[in-house]
Amino acid sequence: DAPTTQPSRPGMPTLTPVLSDIWDAPRSWTLEAYRERGGYRALEEARSRKPEEIVDAVKASGLRGRGGAGFPTGLKWSFLPPPDGGPRYLVVNADESEPGTCKDIPLMLANPHALIEGSAITSYAIGCDHAFIYLRGEVVHVYRRLLAAVREAEAAGLLGGLRITVHAGAGAYICGEETALLDSLEGLRGQPRLKPPFPAVAGLYARPTVVNNVESIASVPSIVLGGPEWFTSMGTEKSAGFGLFSLSGHVTRPGQYEAPLGITLRELLDLAGGVRDGHELKFWTPGGSSTPILTDEHLDVPLDYESVAGAGSMLATRALQIFDETTSVVRAVARWTDFYAHESCGKCTPCREGTYWLKQILHRLEEGRGTAEDLDTLDEITANIAGRSFCAFGDAAVTPIQSGMKYFRSEFEAGTHTPARELFPYTASTVF
Ligand code: NAI
Repeated sequence: DAPTTQPSRPGMPTLTPVLSDIWDAPRSWTLEAYRERGGYRALEEARSRKPEEIVDAVKASGLRGRGGAGFPTGLKWSFLPPPDGGPRYLVVNADESEPGTCKDIPLMLANPHALIEGSAITSYAIGCDHAFIYLRGEVVHVYRRLLAAVREAEAAGLLGGLRITVHAGAGAYICGEETALLDSLEGLRGQPRLKPPFPAVAGLYARPTVVNNVESIASVPSIVLGGPEWFTSMGTEKSAGFGLFSLSGHVTRPGQYEAPLGITLRELLDLAGGVRDGHELKFWTPGGSSTPILTDEHLDVPLDYESVAGAGSMLATRALQIFDETTSVVRAVARWTDFYAHESCGKCTPCREGTYWLKQILHRLEEGRGTAEDLDTLDEITANIAGRSFCAFGDAAVTPIQSGMKYFRSEFEAGTHTPARELFPYTASTVF
C-alpha cells in the first residue's frame, strides 16, 4: 500500500514524489483527480483505527515539523492534555512568507486535497471537530482553490462532522509565528505571545491547539497508508522521510524537487541542471533567508537537520536560494534586512529598533558610504538582537548579516571608504 517512490534518471539521486506525485495530472487540484490516485483512502483507513494508533504511527514515523523548526509532529500531538469535554483545535500554518520559502503555496495549489485529507486525519487523531487553515493574505488564488477543495470534500461527505475554516490573513510575516497567527485568527493584531504555555496547552481561544505546517499535515495521509517503516526507509535516522526542496535563483531549472532528507545540494543541482550556464556557485541558503548562508564548501553537506546544523546553519524550510559569483553579498543581505525591518511587528525593542539601524548601515555599505565603525556596529547590534528578542524573528533577521560577514567580510569592508566623523559625528557607543 506504500505510495510509490521512483528513481529519476539512472545515476541520479532518487526523487520521492509523494506530495508532488499528482502535480502533473490534468486538473490535479480536483477531488476527482485526487481520488483517481488513491486520495481519501488514508482517511478511510485512519477512521478504521483508534485515534491513538494514528498518533503512534506518526510518532513512529519520525515526521518532524516541515515549517522549519523540525519539532517531532507526533510528539507535539501527544502534548495535548486529556479531553475535558471542551473544544480543541487544529490550526494549519499556511502563512508561508519567508524570502525564498515557496513550497506550501505550490503544494496547496496543485494538491489541496492532500492538505484537506491530512487535516481530517489529524483532527480525528487529536479529537478535534473544527480545523483552521490560516493562509497568507496575498495569495488570493490559493485561497479560492482551498475554499473550493474544502467545499468539494464537504459535498462528497468526506469530512464527517469536521468543519474546516480557511482564513486569509492580511499579509504580515509575523503572523507565520504560531502564537501571532493565533492572535490574528482571534481577530487581534498579530503579535507573538509568551511561550510557555505552548499552543498544545493553551492555543486558539486558550484551548488546546495543534499548530502544524501545511507540508507536515499533507504528509500524514502517506504515513497512514505507507506505515512508519516505509517513511523511515527514506531520509536519515534522525531526519526521516522526504521533503520538498525548493531551488530558486541562479539555477538552470528552478522548482520543487521532492527528495529524501539527507540529499545534498550537489545532487539537487545535478537534478536542476546546475548553476546557470557559465557561472559558479557563490553562496546559498539551506532554508530561506532565516538560515545562515553557506558557500561552495558546503555542497556535500547532507540536507538533514543534524548535518546542516553541524555545518553552522539550519535545514529549516529547505528553500535553497542559489547565488552565483555575480551577486554582491552585501546587497543580498541588505535586501533581506529591508524585509525584516519592514516586517518587524514592533513588540520588542531589540528587533524593532535594531532592524531599523541594521538597514541603514547596510544601505551605507552597499553604496560605499560606510565606515570601519559600521562593521563593529553591525557586529554589536546583531549580537544584541540574537537571543534577546521575543520570538525567533530577531534571530532570523540577524542571521544573514552574521553569516554574510563570516564568509565574505571583505565585501562588507569594501563598502567602507569614508572616515566615520565626516559622515556621522557620533560613535557607536553614543548611539547605543
Ligand atoms: P520552536 O522551536 O519554538 O517551536 C517549534 C514547534 O514546536 C512549535 O509549534 C512549538 O509550539 C512546539 N514546541 C516546542 N517546544 C514545545 C514544548 N515544550 N511543548 C509543546 N510544544 C512545543 O520554533 P518556532 O519559533 O515555532 O519556529 C521557528 C522556525 O520557523 C524557524 O526554524 C524557521 O525556519 C521557521 N520559519 C518558517 C517560515 C515559513 O515561511 N515557513 C518563516 C519564518 C520562520
